[in-house]
Amino acid sequence: MTPTNIAVLVSGGGTNLQALIDAEKSGIIKSGKISLVISSKPGVFALERAEKAGIKTAVCERKAFADKKDFDNALLKLLEENGTELIVLAGFMCILGKEFTDKYPERIINIHPSLIPSFCGAGFYGLRVHEAALSYGVKVTGATVHFVNEIPDGGRIIMQKAVYIEDGDTPEILQKRVMEQAEWEIMPLACEKVAFDIASKK
Ligand code: GRF
Repeated sequence: MTPTNIAVLVSGGGTNLQALIDAEKSGIIKSGKISLVISSKPGVFALERAEKAGIKTAVCERKAFADKKDFDNALLKLLEENGTELIVLAGFMCILGKEFTDKYPERIINIHPSLIPSFCGAGFYGLRVHEAALSYGVKVTGATVHFVNEIPDGGRIIMQKAVYIEDGDTPEILQKRVMEQAEWEIMPLACEKVAFDIASKK
């Protein structure tokens, strides 16, 4: 089986990217190969992680394009040139337009740090998600890997894992626990699942 050609899109620290790199190394991801990492911001640590792992990198800066469509098209060009078959959004801070997502139906996955459909959609990113969970007073939160369509956090769910909220949690503490107990585990597992499905249909 030819491995699925994966591109990971990032904007920041890249701990989920690291989990994917480690999972490929350890064989948890065996149906896909990460061949490209694209960042929407220059100088982020995620790019260093990719370079250290010997993965090709590119920067496609949102700020460099006046029009959102031009940004999406520049990204598409990079992905097409690379022969990308699966796009993994791992802390990618830009919302992709419908023309983009329609080009990769069930070929784009994203990780969101809550149990969708709670605390998701436009405006729910980063610490805001955990602030919202704590201020609502839920006792369980978690992470979700889902397919990406034109609706923010609206695509079909692939995998979820629950994480308990504990007394004294702050958004920062909760964010860390959700990453450690859920995100870094289900991101590679979901990626392998989708990469396998794509590879087995080739
Ligand atoms: C994670 O919390 C992820 O769920 C969200 O953005 C954050 C990215 O963190 N989409 P990192 O760059 O992977 O460390």
